[in-house]
Amino acid sequence: MRNASAFSLALGILTLGSISANSADIAAGNAKAADCSDCHGPAGISENPVIPHLAGQHADYLMHQMRNFKSGVRDNPFCVPMVDHLSDEDINNVAA
Ligand code: HEC
Repeated sequence: MRNASAFSLALGILTLGSISANSADIAAGNAKAADCSDCHGPAGISENPVIPHLAGQHADYLMHQMRNFKSGVRDNPFCVPMVDHLSDEDINNVAA
């Protein structure tokens, strides 16, 4: 019986973990994205022609590009330092 309850506790933690990984926290993402607005514009519309707009872009695409910056597949001296410290969860939230 002791093992069974430990098992259901572990299962509960796993389930909670997967729910929080899949559902993005948009408010938390907005807070993290405050640093991005200097370059990408406060509403994700950049005023600088060499900096891309982020608004309207698909969340999956943004997530992918942020991971590319982090992993070094894509390099940029301005944006990599901004994205480098974001966790997978942050990336999920910011993209959303
Ligand atoms: C110092 C200016 C600067 C800041 C601050 C900045 N970026 Fe960027 N970002 C850039 C530039 C420049 C590019 C274009 C890079 C290139 O040409 O490869 C870019 C590109 C991107 C892209 C890829 C867009 C695309 O269309 O492929 C994403 C996603 C992105 N930034 C996210 C972020 C996020 C999230 C933050 C905040 C955590 C952030 N950036 C902060 C300068 C910045």
